[in-house]
Amino acid sequence: MNTPKYTETTTASMSEYNRRKEVEAFDATKSGVKGLVDAGITKIPRIFVHEEYIREDKAVSDLSVPVIDLGSLSNNRGEIIDQVRAACEEWGVFKIVNHGIPKSSMSKAMEAVKGFHEQDTETKKQYYSRDYLKKVVYNSNFDLYTNAVTNWRDSLYLIMAPDPPTPQELPQIFRDPMMEFSEQAKNVGIGVFELLSEALGLKKSHMFDMGCAIGEFLACNYYPACPEPDKTLGFGSHTDSGFLTFLLQDEIGGLQVLHKDQWVDVPPSPGSLLVISGDMMELITNARFKSAYHRVVAKNSGPRISVAFVFRMHLAGSGCSRLYGPIKELLSENNPPIYREAKGEEIVACRYAKGIEKTPLLWYFKLNKP
Ligand code: OGA
Ligand code: NI
Repeated sequence: MNTPKYTETTTASMSEYNRRKEVEAFDATKSGVKGLVDAGITKIPRIFVHEEYIREDKAVSDLSVPVIDLGSLSNNRGEIIDQVRAACEEWGVFKIVNHGIPKSSMSKAMEAVKGFHEQDTETKKQYYSRDYLKKVVYNSNFDLYTNAVTNWRDSLYLIMAPDPPTPQELPQIFRDPMMEFSEQAKNVGIGVFELLSEALGLKKSHMFDMGCAIGEFLACNYYPACPEPDKTLGFGSHTDSGFLTFLLQDEIGGLQVLHKDQWVDVPPSPGSLLVISGDMMELITNARFKSAYHRVVAKNSGPRISVAFVFRMHLAGSGCSRLYGPIKELLSENNPPIYREAKGEEIVACRYAKGIEKTPLLWYFKLNKP
């Protein structure tokens, strides 16, 4: 999957039916996948049919993602740093337990997401938009018009930093729980950046000082129960575009991570958070820490809820014009830069323009393309 032989893909391939028209009609309902399920459909509309997934061998690996216990950080720091380094080099993801965020904050955040998606449709529609400069955006499939297949998911996206929304801008149901959860996730995240910096032999504050924690973003996903889960995906295979994602998932399951070309299930484990290394992490570490491909399979049970807190930049105009490139201290004659320097906003703009497609996002930022 990570072979470098990619050429630029332009538009989603059009099959025999008028996909664009059906996508537009779906978008115009402003009520997402949940709206379809509420209307009682028993077959998924063809814009959701994922031919490649249908043909795929569904076997999963019996490995499990590394679990790192942060509870003993004060007397076991060296060993934890070694674990973090190994997890980032080999997997690009790891679970953290005993990270300090109270279970009650996590469940309040999940409840708030459920509440948002399940509130009265007319109220929810006010937030329906594809204007990613807005701090609060609700829609189904951020890449609806670029992706060749539509995913079985609705989302609410919140830009939390550098310029946070005022409490009034946040949907009421969200204010306190999301402010609280994102503050706590941010604090845990800053601690993880320290471990990652130390894992690379850098000063503890290196990643923070270079601005990895400037941008904060929340993706609040709602995956309705799917009547034909073998034909579609909740979230197709993708990498996250930011530095680090802290993912909270409920008890339904369905999340998978790609490891050595095989999908590995990430079963729910209450209280844990999944840390996912993103494209900007791969860029600044010159691919020592790879961004991890992950996806969510659809289920006939649900709804499934997840909250992703992401250290990520936003589009131009949102205070994210700083340049990021491979960390100089990591480069040498034998380890020349693979990626060019890029503004965070450029990487995000590229993700919005391309959607989640086969070409890895970082391919566009490579210095020497074959
Ligand atoms: C994401 C993501 C996975 C999930 O929001 O980028 O990968 O479990 N979410 O919802
Ligand atoms: Ni993701």
